[in-house]
Amino acid sequence: MTAIVRAIELSKVFNPDSAPVVALDRVSLTIEPGEFVAVMGPSGSGKSTFMNIIGCLDRATSGRYELEGHDVAELSGDQLADIRRNKLGFVFQSYNLLSRTSARDNVELPMIYAGIGERERRQIALRALEEVGLLARTAQQLPSQLSGGQQQRVAIARALVNSPILILADEPTGALDSKTSVEIMELFSRIQQERHVTILMVTHEPHVAAYARRLVRFLDGRIASDTPTAQTLATP
Ligand SMILES: Nc1ncnc2c1ncn2[C@@H]1O[C@H](COP(=O)(O)OP(=O)(O)OP(=O)(O)O)[C@@H](O)[C@H]1O
Ligand SMILES: [Mg+2]
Repeated sequence: MTAIVRAIELSKVFNPDSAPVVALDRVSLTIEPGEFVAVMGPSGSGKSTFMNIIGCLDRATSGRYELEGHDVAELSGDQLADIRRNKLGFVFQSYNLLSRTSARDNVELPMIYAGIGERERRQIALRALEEVGLLARTAQQLPSQLSGGQQQRVAIARALVNSPILILADEPTGALDSKTSVEIMELFSRIQQERHVTILMVTHEPHVAAYARRLVRFLDGRIASDTPTAQTLATP
């Protein structure tokens, strides 16, 4: 089976000419289909830099990155944008919803870019909102009319509609209280089991990381450990 992510000696140096910052230092990591991987590590250890490269939002300075067997370095900007749209789903700490746009229209957005017709879009969006546990009337509401947990559910629905092979979540519960964090993590677990999607998630919270099967710890731009979660954390 082809690995979803194959990172080989990835390095990232910011400001190489003025004041170089080595954000990633020869990071190698392979993620197989269906894995649920948590990433932890101190602030500044390179977690988001790594996620941005894996999400094709940024390129490594050196090393090789294969997404589903394809060398990302060989792809043009347009091809990378296509991959972001069609193969990847993104979930952020701050939800990143369009504020003047209803929940349903936020969820429809990736499908507009993918060229899916209006009727089908609407159906898929409503089904995705239901899948993430939102009531039908939520579809018409604006993000400002929703709780943080509901907004994150909308963002997860948006990440799902193009049936991504990989979901990248950078601190998805970072802005939520602990009860809502548990609800969101239970949702991620259910989605992962039902859709067999691969998830890579950054978190600072051990009880959130415990929902993943595998825990990768970053330190100073390198991977300090890579272990089954059960070995290092109590299960939730
Ligand atoms: N665009 C940039 N330009 C210059 N330096 C950057 C840039 N982005 C990140 N860095 C630096 O790279 C290092 C890694 O940052 P990164 O954001 O990946 O850390 P992180 O592990 O996600 O931290 P946090 O837990 O605070 O989110 C830090 O030293 C940071 O200052
Ligand atoms: Mg970060």
